[in-house]
Amino acid sequence: MDHFRHRNGHLHAERVPVADIAARVGTPCYVYSRARLEQNWHAFDAAFGDYPHRICYAVKANGNLAVLNLFARLGSGFDIVSGGELRRVLQAGGAARDIIFSGVGKQPVELDAALRAGVGCFNIESAGELARLSAQAAAVGRVATISVRLNPDVDAGTHPYISTGRREDKFGVAAAPAMELYLRARDDANIRVGGVACHIGSQLTALTPYRNALRRALAFIDQLEARGVAVEHLDFGGGLGVKYRHENPPTIAEYADALLAQLQTRATQLPLVIEPGRALVGDAGILLTRVNYLKPGQSVNFCIVDAGMNDLLRPALYQAEHEIVAVAADSAARPARYDVVGPVCESGDFLGRARALKVRVDDLLAVKTAGAYAASMSSNYNARPRPAEVMVDGDKFYVIRRREKLADLYRGETILPQ
Ligand code: LLP
Repeated sequence: MDHFRHRNGHLHAERVPVADIAARVGTPCYVYSRARLEQNWHAFDAAFGDYPHRICYAVKANGNLAVLNLFARLGSGFDIVSGGELRRVLQAGGAARDIIFSGVGKQPVELDAALRAGVGCFNIESAGELARLSAQAAAVGRVATISVRLNPDVDAGTHPYISTGRREDKFGVAAAPAMELYLRARDDANIRVGGVACHIGSQLTALTPYRNALRRALAFIDQLEARGVAVEHLDFGGGLGVKYRHENPPTIAEYADALLAQLQTRATQLPLVIEPGRALVGDAGILLTRVNYLKPGQSVNFCIVDAGMNDLLRPALYQAEHEIVAVAADSAARPARYDVVGPVCESGDFLGRARALKVRVDDLLAVKTAGAYAASMSSNYNARPRPAEVMVDGDKFYVIRRREKLADLYRGETILPQ
């Protein structure tokens, strides 16, 4: 079921008319559906059935404490890429042992915080990182559990900026040097080998790249075991795509079945970790925005709204196309084709191009599928306060992040004494 639907001509989030939210909280504003978040999480969990698995939600997709807390309550683990995300998860009630620490550039201070917190697994991306982790683990008197992130040299067939498993990408380590790291890790008293990690990219809309990467990861695990390195889990990353406009991604069940088909050919069950971000939260959110001006241009008409690229960077950065709908479906306006643009002083500041809309000034629009990589990638560019975030739960809604105030924008700044 779609949790953002028109009823009697008005867009609702679950049972709340989103116009009520805009009236109370203002625009722009992100609106999330608790039911949809939970449904998506359960869909992943159910799709893997009895097969031993752990879902580690990729915090980068949406790190709001309320979102993290809902997943923590369901028993989720978390995939983090910074000390900031570590703090968020702990603050939201997540358990440190259920955290996977990913990322190509973990800093000493971040490794230290993660070691002291007792993070479950460090996904290592270079020899330098392994050496540093070992030394820091010794210094704090802990043994760090690791996976090495394998770069399987597979093209995920997605936008190049979010493709991570090709040999030219900065992520992961090729099989031969990864083997060296495992042999080193096995003999290091400060390190314990946990698993093998692999994440080939984001917004995947086909299963073949997954199948190819999984075959290589499993072959690598066989090689490890042949060398006497035991592996406790495979962390196969995230990346499952969602439907924004024209895409036709596999369902969660199809994705799980594709992985299970290969995993179940093995003699013993290899516990699986997955790190979905977008597929858990993407379609559980919208960005609400109000039409500020309608401006006929020389060759295009502009619908100028109060949300901009600083609130939703994806169209500008990845040529992403999000569906945009009028909140009141019965707007008496004439249908026209618009570029939906924000107030930011950049021509790249658009939310959607050549969209057929029936809108008037002051109407509300909803940019759909904005639960992932929208609020989490927002900025204060043009000194714009970041929007409020709202969580709908049935017929109630809660502000889960208040709109920034202007004074927040220069908090921490100082002028010279003379
Ligand atoms: N695990 C690792 C190691 C990752 O790097 C990522 C995403 C994920 C899991 C989660 O991937 P997901 O399931 O969300 O696809 N800002 C971009 C997406 C960047 C993804 C980066 N890594 C966008 O808006 O499309």
